[in-house]
Amino acid sequence: MNYRGKVAVVTGASSGIGYQAALALAERGCTVVGVARRQAELEELTSRCRRHASDSTFMVGDLGERAFAEHVVNDSARRFGRLDILVNNAGIPIHKHIYDVTPDDVERVMRVNFMSSVWTTLAAIPHMLLLGEAWIVNVSSFAAQVAPPRETAYTASKAAMDGFTEGLWTDLAGSGIHAGLVIPGPIDTEIWDKDDSPSAYSGNLHPPSIVVDAILECIENKLREVVAPRYSPQLLAARWMRFLTPSLMLKGMSWMEPVPEEVVSRARAAARRKRDGEGGGMG
Ligand SMILES: NC(=O)c1ccc[n+]([C@@H]2O[C@H](COP(=O)([O-])OP(=O)(O)OC[C@H]3O[C@@H](n4cnc5c(N)ncnc54)[C@H](OP(=O)(O)O)[C@@H]3O)[C@@H](O)[C@H]2O)c1
Repeated sequence: MNYRGKVAVVTGASSGIGYQAALALAERGCTVVGVARRQAELEELTSRCRRHASDSTFMVGDLGERAFAEHVVNDSARRFGRLDILVNNAGIPIHKHIYDVTPDDVERVMRVNFMSSVWTTLAAIPHMLLLGEAWIVNVSSFAAQVAPPRETAYTASKAAMDGFTEGLWTDLAGSGIHAGLVIPGPIDTEIWDKDDSPSAYSGNLHPPSIVVDAILECIENKLREVVAPRYSPQLLAARWMRFLTPSLMLKGMSWMEPVPEEVVSRARAAARRKRDGEGGGMG
């Protein structure tokens, strides 16, 4: 694989996996366009990328907005005359009990974690078709395979991304565009501190470098799907349990963080207040 002369858009490049992936691509000679909302972090990344790939640049904006997501791709392709690699990595967490989740919460998570990848991918395909070969790598999550407690919306956004990517495997056949799915387990990045409520998970965290390696492997070997870490006994066991004994898997998840009785009572009381306030109800 020769990255020199190739152009890559990496979303969510201001921290964590995206930052490291953008740098790794630049170190291999790829011109990188890093995308996120925090400008100072992107400026710092870009100055590091430029030591290896001098045309590297960044774009600041909210990928939850369709116009910006499409602009990122179209502007990069126009500016550099090509788009070889798209890494859809931007993502936000949400750790909320289902009783507290609002439709706006779910819409926001779906827009950033899933729809942004759809918008960038659909915009990228025509540019990529003009090349003999191109790559789309979608960074999903192991949470799409086994829904952790209080992560219903996050799990849904990543499961949607998995389904979309699997569809791409079939639909892009013969085009020269390779779609790959990278499925990280728990990784040591700032994402764990970005939600008001902590995650239910409190086990080991793996370094972001293993996900970067998975992204590069996906590109270089045209792999359809890579779990990172690939040989973690916990993740392998969870995958098999989900496949063979899904009810045991569910039990494991509820042992991880049982739903406290008071959470259900509070939600039930709120439901009663709502019913009474609305003047309706069944008595
Ligand atoms: N860390 C893990 O354990 C883990 C596990 C499984 C999957 N993942 C997935 O891996 C990906 C990278 O996460 P990470 O762990 O590296 O976390 P991170 O350090 O928090 O990185 C998330 C990136 O997404 C960007 N982003 C968030 N909302 C955005 C928006 N509306 N518009 C543009 N950019 C936005 C953030 O930048 P700004 O805030 O500057 O916009 C940041 O660069 C995510 O999709 C995440 O779901 C992570």
